[in-house]
Amino acid sequence: MAFRKLLAVCCVSALVAGCDSGAVTTESTYATDSEARAAAAGISHGEYVARLGNCVACHSIPEGEPLAGGLRMNVPMLGNLYTTNITPDPTNGIGNYTFEEFDRAMRFGVKSDGTRMYPAMPYPSYAKMSEQDMRALYDFIMNEVEPSSTPNQPSEIPGFKDMARMGMGIWNVLTMDDEPYEPDDNQSNDWNRGAYLVQGLGHCGACHTPRGLLMQEKGLDEGDSAFLAGAPLDHWSASSLNGDINSGLGRWTEDDVAEFLGSGHNRFGTAFGTMVEVVNNSTQHMSEADLRGMAVYLKSLPPVAEVGATEWSYDNSDTQELLSLNFSEPGSQIYYEYCSNCHGTNGQGYYPYQPPLAGNPVIMDPDPSSLINLTLNGSLRVIADEGPDVNDMPYFRQLLSDDEIAEVITYIRSAWGHNASAVTTAEVSEIRAATDPTRNDDIFTLRMK
Ligand code: HEC
Ligand code: HEC
Ligand code: HEC
Repeated sequence: MAFRKLLAVCCVSALVAGCDSGAVTTESTYATDSEARAAAAGISHGEYVARLGNCVACHSIPEGEPLAGGLRMNVPMLGNLYTTNITPDPTNGIGNYTFEEFDRAMRFGVKSDGTRMYPAMPYPSYAKMSEQDMRALYDFIMNEVEPSSTPNQPSEIPGFKDMARMGMGIWNVLTMDDEPYEPDDNQSNDWNRGAYLVQGLGHCGACHTPRGLLMQEKGLDEGDSAFLAGAPLDHWSASSLNGDINSGLGRWTEDDVAEFLGSGHNRFGTAFGTMVEVVNNSTQHMSEADLRGMAVYLKSLPPVAEVGATEWSYDNSDTQELLSLNFSEPGSQIYYEYCSNCHGTNGQGYYPYQPPLAGNPVIMDPDPSSLINLTLNGSLRVIADEGPDVNDMPYFRQLLSDDEIAEVITYIRSAWGHNASAVTTAEVSEIRAATDPTRNDDIFTLRMK
């Protein structure tokens, strides 16, 4: 089976390239076509592409039918809208879309009736998809997904503001590169595969790249230093994925990156916040080769904010103070009483059950939003192959005041050799007012079919 699929990939590239084109073209096609990976996973090519693109995270909700839409999303400055039904139902879904119309929606953000979409649908990333993958995705939706008659919900954007839709064509011209991914022949096959996934289907930049004045991602590939440099979204901070030595992936090996994406854990930390949706619904379903490709690509991104910075090293003195019950450091007693059971007086946690805080890049993220949000509200659980995580971070919004949360986070940002900025009470109050505790007792995965 795997052999036949692999052969099919070779045939396609031979057809496209002619007979005398040699190995490079075959590899390039391999980098942008997911068919062989799907065969390895034992699912159809299109289902695998849908996993890579994580359609389900936005187009399914726990109480709804698979891919029938209904997730509320915020469009900055305009208001809320709902994701749509993308099942093959002809009336309420996309059953009447031709392949050409589907392709236009996925790459340019135009619905079949000509309405422009907001980039809450990450079409600027999906524009990089190869035609093979796009066709397979279309076939999956049309033939494998169950039609659902769930009607679409009207957006909560007032009519006069919704006129902004009409400007999206101009927005595309100003901000987007709408060409499919072009492999770079100077880079390895793994690197190209990783670039194709990270920039394109994985739409990692939708969360991890800072946005400019027009709310566009400030960089769409490694040619731009803002690409994946870390960004705030929904009161979480999607931290830097470049080579920054302390707050980015500079100290991670390729294996560390692949392990984190494949299982939600590694020796540095555990996925939490909105990253859980990415691991649970998308990256854990990727083949080892695809995880490695993304790791190779991410590890090739140079440091940006921390060029020439001193590498973090563990400092034992805070652990000694905690063990001798010396609580002169503000926040240390709160840490000792509420946090050290799980994360250890030494800050090193109990891998893979309780993540370490010492040396964890998210603790040294210049933006503390994730730390505040997680301490106030907890997080959804990672659900990987072995089942849901047994442990999760409790929420402290009822137990600790804003002052206390600011103190304990400031403490972990300076303990064990960390040197990150202090957190203020006002920052905690702001996130408390804007968020709710996670329903972290609910254990569910979203279905595509
Ligand atoms: C980050 C959230 C998000 C992800 C991930 C996402 N979508 Fe969407 N999608 C949206 C939103 C929001 C809309 C509606 C946009 C609007 O109305 O302006 C939409 C609209 C669409 C439409 C237009 C449907 C219609 O009603 O005419 C199609 C087709 C579509 N998405 C397909 C997909 C596919 C296939 C994937 C996976 C490869 C995907 N989407 C992933 C958020 C998302
Ligand atoms: C019952 C055990 C437990 C206690 C008590 C606990 N945590 Fe956690 N913490 C976890 C787990 C498990 C995670 C991983 C995320 C998840 O699964 O929810 C986590 C994650 C974190 C993270 C993110 C690290 C990462 O990379 O995942 C921070 C920061 C953190 N906790 C801080 C605290 C602070 C501050 C306290 C005390 C106020 C505290 N924790 C108390 C179990 C605990
Ligand atoms: C929906 C938003 C979102 C998307 C999409 C997203 N991430 Fe994340 N990611 C986050 C958030 C928030 C964090 C911080 C919490 C954590 O460490 O788990 C994070 C953390 C990470 C980390 C750990 C960083 C660290 O220093 O601990 C890695 C690695 C990562 N993401 C890789 C990716 C890759 C690769 C993709 C694309 C396939 C991706 N992310 C897509 C939101 C997102």
